[in-house]
This record gives sequence, structure tokens and C-alpha cells, in this order.
Amino acid sequence: MPLLNFSPVVAGVWRMASWEWSVAERVRWIEQCLEAGVTTFDHADIYGGYTVEGLFGEALAAAPELKARVKLVTKCGIHLLNPSRPETWIKHYDSSGRHIAASVERSLKNLGVEQLDLLLLHRPDSLMEVDEVAQVFDALRAAGKVAAFGVSNFTPSQFALLYSQTPLVTNQIEWHPLHLAPLFDGTLDQAQQLRLRPMIWSPLAGGALFSSDGDAAHRVRRALGRIAGERGVSEATVAYAWLGRHPSHPVAITGTRRIEAIREAVAATEIVLTRQEWTEILVAGTGKDVP
Ligand SMILES: NC(=O)c1ccc[n+]([C@@H]2O[C@H](COP(=O)([O-])OP(=O)(O)OC[C@H]3O[C@@H](n4cnc5c(N)ncnc54)[C@H](OP(=O)(O)O)[C@@H]3O)[C@@H](O)[C@H]2O)c1
Repeated sequence: MPLLNFSPVVAGVWRMASWEWSVAERVRWIEQCLEAGVTTFDHADIYGGYTVEGLFGEALAAAPELKARVKLVTKCGIHLLNPSRPETWIKHYDSSGRHIAASVERSLKNLGVEQLDLLLLHRPDSLMEVDEVAQVFDALRAAGKVAAFGVSNFTPSQFALLYSQTPLVTNQIEWHPLHLAPLFDGTLDQAQQLRLRPMIWSPLAGGALFSSDGDAAHRVRRALGRIAGERGVSEATVAYAWLGRHPSHPVAITGTRRIEAIREAVAATEIVLTRQEWTEILVAGTGKDVP
């Protein structure tokens, strides 16, 4: 059950501006991701203070043969306080048809492509007009500018509301052993019920899984380390395998710049944790045995 025609692991580029790479380094990184089996890249209009799509687009322009080989996800719906947006005086959300259409045009231009493979509404917007969103999605699909649509960070009822009016293919959510809410708040149940694979952001808690001094992180590291030792793989691979074991078939979005760390995510797609291994990591995250 593939998520569109995406790779089983997606590379996130939220942090790309901070990598301070040359165009040639960005091209090489994209090529190495492809060599590792990662074809799909997760963007948002706002990443890097509205700069990352352009950085990626520069790389694609320098190596245009890559355009046919990559799948591009991007997001819209957040207005950041940023010098390039002087009209914005408070950070806010905007799911108006006008904003979505304008943001898609900018993303296409920044990335230098004719079509986005997937567009997500980045955050739930309390002022969302469902019919207006459905209309603009239809128009963008009909114009060939966006192949498919989804959302990010939506609660199950917010998802159900929009899904009642327009097809959505995923909810991109935060989930890792230090953030367990999606297991218990209906988010992953809904994904299974609708047979829509969730995309998982910050699968390693943004690195906190390995760097945090908190008790839960210590417990999780111990569990990951034990299982990793037994299976002869890295702790990060076990962390990805823990997500991948869920029957909703989650698609992890890596955030690392290091290709060897991306390979650790890909390696997890070959591993099926036992129920007891899976529970050991869950229990490490919650700090208590299952009832
Ligand atoms: N939809 C949303 O609201 C939303 C929100 C946040 C993120 N996202 C998406 O999700 C992607 C991933 O988020 P994330 O960057 O927080 O993911 P992550 O994979 O949980 O964290 C990546 C960070 O952890 C560090 N790290 C430490 N140890 C690592 C290890 N063993 N393996 C890999 N990385 C390790 C990485 O540093 P190194 O580079 O040095 O490895 C990097 O800074 C983003 O790029 C973005 O596309 C979406």
C-alpha cells in the first residue's frame, strides 16, 4: 500500500538552510538520497524563513535531470513574521483559497517544477472554510499544478471535516517514543480506518531521542540500545522500526543531513519488531507498564 508513488522513507529539508551548502553540495545530497532509495523530499513554503524551496530549486536547476526522479511534497497555510513579508505583523494561519493558490504558484516557481506531487495544509486553521479549500484543491488538481492533497497536524475530527468534502491522502504528524499522543488520541486509528498512510515528522524527536537528558529519553535510549545490540543494527534504525511496526504503515520523514543516517532509516524498512520489543520501547516512553 504505497503512499502515492513515494519512497518508503522521505527526506525532510526543514533544516537545509542551516546546512549552508553550496549548490554542488545540495545536488550531491539529492543524488545520494536517490542512491539510498529515497526519492521523496518534504518541504514547506516557510522552511528556512521562506528560503529552502529556493535552495532546493537551485540544485534542481543545476542538475535538471533530477527533476524527473524526485517527488516533491510541500506545505502552505502559515504566515511567518519575516522581513520578506512586511505585511504580516503576527504569525497566523491562512487556509483561504487565495493564499493556497498563491502559495502553490510560489512553490512551483521556487522549486522550478511544473507540478507538486503533494500539497499539505501545514496546520489546522480555526477559520478554515471547508468548501473554499475543496474548491481550490479541485482547481489546482484540474490545472495539473498539484497531484494530490493532504494535511498536517490535524486532529481526527479536523481531518474528518475536510475529508468529507475533498480527497486527502495523508495527515503528517509528530510521533516518536517521547510523543505518544497519536497512538491514543484516535489519529492513527483514523489513518488505519481510512487506509491512509500517515507521514511522521521528527521521527527521532528532532534528535532529542539521542541528546535529551530527560528520564524518558534515558529509558528510551536504554531500550533502543538493548534491541539494537541484539539485532546488530543502530539505535536510530530501531527507532524508525518502532514507528514502522504500526499497522497504519507510517512513512517516516528523516531530518538529518547525513546520508549514513538516512540509510539507517531505510534499513528499518527491513525490520519487523516483535510485539514485546515494540512494547518495551512504548513502556520506556510512557514510564509505566501497559495496564
Ligand atoms: N509538518 C510539520 O509540522 C513538521 C514539523 C517539523 C518537521 N517536519 C518535517 O519533518 C522532517 C524531519 O524533522 P526533524 O528534522 O525534526 O527529524 P528528526 O529526524 O527527528 O531529527 C533530525 C535531527 O536530529 C539530529 N540527529 C541526532 N542524532 C541522529 C541520528 N542518529 N540520526 C538522525 N538524526 C540525528 C539530526 O542531526 P544531523 O543532521 O547532524 O544528523 C537533525 O538535527 C523535517 O525536515 C520536515 O520536513 C514537519
